[in-house]
Amino acid sequence: MSADALSAGLIEAAVSAMSKAYAPYSNFSVGAAVRGASGKVYAGCNVENASYPEGCCAETSAIAALVMAGESRITEVAVAGAGEKLVTPCGGCRQRLREFAADEVAIHICGPEGLRKTVTLGELLPLSFGPDNLDQE
Ligand code: THU
Repeated sequence: MSADALSAGLIEAAVSAMSKAYAPYSNFSVGAAVRGASGKVYAGCNVENASYPEGCCAETSAIAALVMAGESRITEVAVAGAGEKLVTPCGGCRQRLREFAADEVAIHICGPEGLRKTVTLGELLPLSFGPDNLDQE
């Protein structure tokens, strides 16, 4: 399968996850999908809460699914949301992705219709602090 066909599956998973969102407060549904080192895809949606700050982003749900499956590396990401503006991961989710992904990892920003723009994690979170910063010699 070509790299593009692989990405198409990931993007489809993110768009499909949008329909699972629990977003009664913002009415803004987001879906995310992350690919693990195994090649498997893990999807997530945003899950809001009546105590607003306790809500959880789609990327966070997808990362939790990846970790639950026993994986710890992310090789590709897709995020999908509606509206005219690009639904880029929030600041907190950029850092959460950084825990499991390298700067070069592609993040496909999508709308309900599909891919809109591809960026890298390093572009979204330059000069980031990651697990390697804690290595002490
Ligand atoms: N949201 C995500 O799930 N991911 C993002 O990348 C941006 C924002 C959610 C959080 C909240 O449930 C809703 O979108 C509105 O902010």
